[in-house]
Amino acid sequence: MTSLLCENRDAVGGCATVLAASEAYPLWAPHYSSETAVSSIEDELVAAITPPLKGLRLLDVGCGTGRRLRDVEAGHAIGVDLCPEMIAAGADQLQWRPRVKTVVGDVRSLPFPDCSFDVVWCRLMIGHVADCGAVYRELARVTTPDGRVIVSDFHEDAYAAGHRRSFRAGESVIEVEHHVHSLAKQLREAADAGLESVAIKQGCIGASVEEFYRSANLADRFREHLGLPVVLALAFRRSA
Ligand SMILES: C[S@@+](CC[C@H](N)C(=O)[O-])C[C@H]1O[C@@H](n2cnc3c(N)ncnc32)[C@H](O)[C@@H]1O
Repeated sequence: MTSLLCENRDAVGGCATVLAASEAYPLWAPHYSSETAVSSIEDELVAAITPPLKGLRLLDVGCGTGRRLRDVEAGHAIGVDLCPEMIAAGADQLQWRPRVKTVVGDVRSLPFPDCSFDVVWCRLMIGHVADCGAVYRELARVTTPDGRVIVSDFHEDAYAAGHRRSFRAGESVIEVEHHVHSLAKQLREAADAGLESVAIKQGCIGASVEEFYRSANLADRFREHLGLPVVLALAFRRSA
C-alpha cells in the first residue's frame, strides 16, 4: 500500500515490491534528499530535542545522503550509513565542510571507539533493523556519559493505518522493509543499554505540511490524514 505519507510523494497507487533497506536505498539514493511531509515533520521534532551542537562531537547513524549534516554547527560531525550509494549521492553537498565526514558502516557494529560522541542521532532508520536492542546498545556504547542520543522513526500509528515507506523507481513502486518497534519496547531496550529517557515527542500531519499535499494536488488526502501521528522522536541521556 502506498500513500502521500510515503517519503516520496509521487509514490501513489500501484502494487509495491518490498525490498530490504540494503537493496532499496541504492535505488532511492539519487532522489532521496527531496523533503517530504514526513521528513519535514521529523526535522522539526529532532531540532526541538537536540541540544545546541556548537563545539560538540556529533554522530549521525544512518545518515543517508548526509542532508542533516549540511548546516550543523557541531565542532566535528560524522555520518555513517550502510549504503555507499546514499553517501555518494550527498557527497557534493558536504565537500566544503571540513568538519563533516561520512563513512560506510553498520549501526549494529559501529566503527568507532566507546564514548566518542557527545550527541548521537539515529534518524528514520531504526525501523530498518529487526533487533532494535542491538541498535540501542551500539548508540549507547559510542556516546559519552551524560551525552544525548536522539532516535526518530516512522510512527507505529501511521504504519497501522496502512502507510508505508516507499518510493518510485522508474515504473515500479518500491516499499522499504520496516520493522515496527513499539514505544514501550524502545524505552525498555534503551534503558537496558544505559539510556535514560528525557523526551518523547510525536509529530502529526498538520498545517506545517499542507503545502506538500497541495503541490501534489492531494488536498482531499490532507483532510483525511490531518492529525495522524507520522513520526516518533525520542531523546535519551546516557547514564554515567
Ligand atoms: C530513511 S533513510 C534516513 C536517512 C537520514 N537519517 C535522513 O533522515 O535523511 C534510512 C537510512 O538508514 C540506512 N540504514 C539502513 N540500515 C542500516 C544499518 N544497519 N546501518 C546503517 N545504516 C542503515 C539506509 O541506508 C538509509 O540511508
